[in-house]
Amino acid sequence: MEEMKMIHVSGNADEPVFHLTNGLLSYIFTVRQPVGVLEQLYFAKAIRPQADYSYLKIRRHHHGAQVFDDNRLLTYEHMLLEYPVFGTTDFREEAVSVHYPAGDSTSHFRYLSHTLTKEKAQLDGLPQSFSSERDASESLIIRLVDDYSGLELQLNYSIFEGLSLITRSAIYYGSEKETVYLDRAMSSALDLPDHRFELISSYGAWAREMQMERNPLIHGIHEISSRRGTSSHNHNPFIALARPETTEQQGEVYGFNLLYSGNFVNRIEVDSLNRTRLLQGIHPEQFRWKLGAGDVFTTPEAVLVYSDQGLNAMSQTFHDFYRRHLIRSPWLKRERPVLINNWEGTYFDINEEKILEMAAVAKEMGIDLFVLDDGWFGQRDTDNSSLGDWFADLRKLPNGIEGLADQIHEMGLLFGLWFEPEMVNPGTRIWNEHPDWVIHVPGKHRTPSRHQYVLDMGRAEVVDDLYDQISKVLAAAKVDYVKWDMNRYLTEVMSLALAADRQGETLHRFTLGVYALYERLIKRFPDILFESCSSGGGRFDAGMLYYAPQAWASDNSDAISRLKIQYGTSMAYPLQSIGAHVSAVPNHQTGRMTSLALRTAVASFGTFGYELDPRRLSEAEREQIKKDIGAYKAMQALVADGDFYRQHNPFESNLCSWFIVAKDQSKAVAALYTRHFEMYEAWPRLKLEGLDPERLYRVSGPGQSSIERYGDSLMHVGIILDGNDEDASFADRQYLGDFSALIFHIEAVN
Ligand code: GLA
Repeated sequence: MEEMKMIHVSGNADEPVFHLTNGLLSYIFTVRQPVGVLEQLYFAKAIRPQADYSYLKIRRHHHGAQVFDDNRLLTYEHMLLEYPVFGTTDFREEAVSVHYPAGDSTSHFRYLSHTLTKEKAQLDGLPQSFSSERDASESLIIRLVDDYSGLELQLNYSIFEGLSLITRSAIYYGSEKETVYLDRAMSSALDLPDHRFELISSYGAWAREMQMERNPLIHGIHEISSRRGTSSHNHNPFIALARPETTEQQGEVYGFNLLYSGNFVNRIEVDSLNRTRLLQGIHPEQFRWKLGAGDVFTTPEAVLVYSDQGLNAMSQTFHDFYRRHLIRSPWLKRERPVLINNWEGTYFDINEEKILEMAAVAKEMGIDLFVLDDGWFGQRDTDNSSLGDWFADLRKLPNGIEGLADQIHEMGLLFGLWFEPEMVNPGTRIWNEHPDWVIHVPGKHRTPSRHQYVLDMGRAEVVDDLYDQISKVLAAAKVDYVKWDMNRYLTEVMSLALAADRQGETLHRFTLGVYALYERLIKRFPDILFESCSSGGGRFDAGMLYYAPQAWASDNSDAISRLKIQYGTSMAYPLQSIGAHVSAVPNHQTGRMTSLALRTAVASFGTFGYELDPRRLSEAEREQIKKDIGAYKAMQALVADGDFYRQHNPFESNLCSWFIVAKDQSKAVAALYTRHFEMYEAWPRLKLEGLDPERLYRVSGPGQSSIERYGDSLMHVGIILDGNDEDASFADRQYLGDFSALIFHIEAVN
């Protein structure tokens, strides 16, 4: 028996059993002989390591296509498979599909060997999780070979101390024997032995991202995916499979995510035997990768979370994992600056004088960072020109970005700048000199979304050109923050640098090029705080978090719309990654009027900032904002590092509530929002979670009121908003009504 702390290998050399367990979950699989195929045995709550797992192996005779005449027990269709192939007796969705020179797609990957290691396998050019000082990881690497082509496959599994999840990825090594094409290469395939699940997934659109829904699984195939070139507004790579009885607070749920920002798929199949298969990876449609001798293809890393304590515990596992093992930026541990972005304040109508006036008011209110959005470069007076010409427009900014950045710094503010690197407008240098750098199909219509076209980021010379232009700006001026935008999807996809038989590589190469440019800029400017954006949340995914620790969650800055968007986004992504700003009213997207208090109360549960023209604020509003920024700073450490809990679900009720509890249980902050107030209904009780039942806490609510209660009471009774006079004072009349928020600060007094 081979041992690491979290990976145990038993059985004989031919048929080893692998058990990954950290006391929270167990993930067990084996090698099935005589075929050498990997068989999934168990993935759920931790069970103890044992010497013999044969009881987990299902060896009953089923009718079906036997692999061999003389072995009635071996049919792939009846096994739970670890990485299924196409073309044999498993008729479910496959993890890999290889196109061979003869024209067929029948593979057989056979187990060769395994390695246990403390070093995670490197996934070249891709975002990837890493070990941290706080909790280590162990990895299991399985090598397999395709009997027919000699293609080698490496499956990587990693497990982390203290986190109920594993990660998986696959690496393919081309063979000398023959050149093949990968038509499908999933990051992970998981077979679960039953189908008593509901699928939790998101759908959305521009300005309406991360709308959560929950549906029973049905027999057949269901897919949550993107074919838009980015992870998209429409569906997020995060999904969950929850037991029907699972709630935010309790029950079993599996959460899945992919560290990837391009076309992805979560394909769920419930077969006729009532088992569930889930594939996660790059979307196989429009994908084909040529693999000859010496070629290597690496899939993105998939994350598989297990929780038996409901959706909140699942989300907290994702949050902790990304904070400890994915986000590399030094800004992870630094207090994020409260920012002001001029976009909704000015749109394209900017000049140095105006920006400096806005910055002066911002500074006075206690804002830390001024972000200059779109419109500063080329001759960009509207959205129909200049993307790709990354130099300052001296008509608007006579002292250039350097001059402006210096003046902003002299005021005591940090300075941030907007780019949209992957795009080009007609008439720019790149467009005129390098027509072949633009993704399009010669002779066919090109779709001009927002008047712009997409650069072929898979070409090294494109990445070089953008790197030179952008780093020139960032080196010359003191820039502390970059907002990296991406404002259209990819259509008419073709790379003029690739041969016809490699066009299926274009989309993935595009994503790799985006990562490569990020990587080079981060290396050169390690202190810059990057925020990703894609018309809001069009590329809000875990892949991006590896490069940019925060993302603009939505172009919809309306507080009421944001409740759903932020609630949905928090399913998988830590609050500190969710860009959330207070904007002006009537809201520019929805026309809705809401109070400054509500807008502040919603944006405070994210990376906080403002997106308006501060010159137009009244004296009273400026004074209030000064106080609000102070209050945000007092709770900022909770946003950065606390455990986040959702309670009232805005997709199901008029209310929304959530709260954050400090890891040491000394503090918490809770918010209850009313979207639509109904008369003569009982006030809800806000039951906190995660407090220490033995400790006494002071709860300070609106209107300077406060009560003292023990943790057990706050958790099991809750804050009673319409109870005795003491608690009811929280629900003072001024907090009734549509679009209202109640915020409670909870602090241990012993
Ligand atoms: C996108 C972004 C906005 C803003 C504009 C500028 O829509 O999501 O925040 O930067 O582009 O054109």
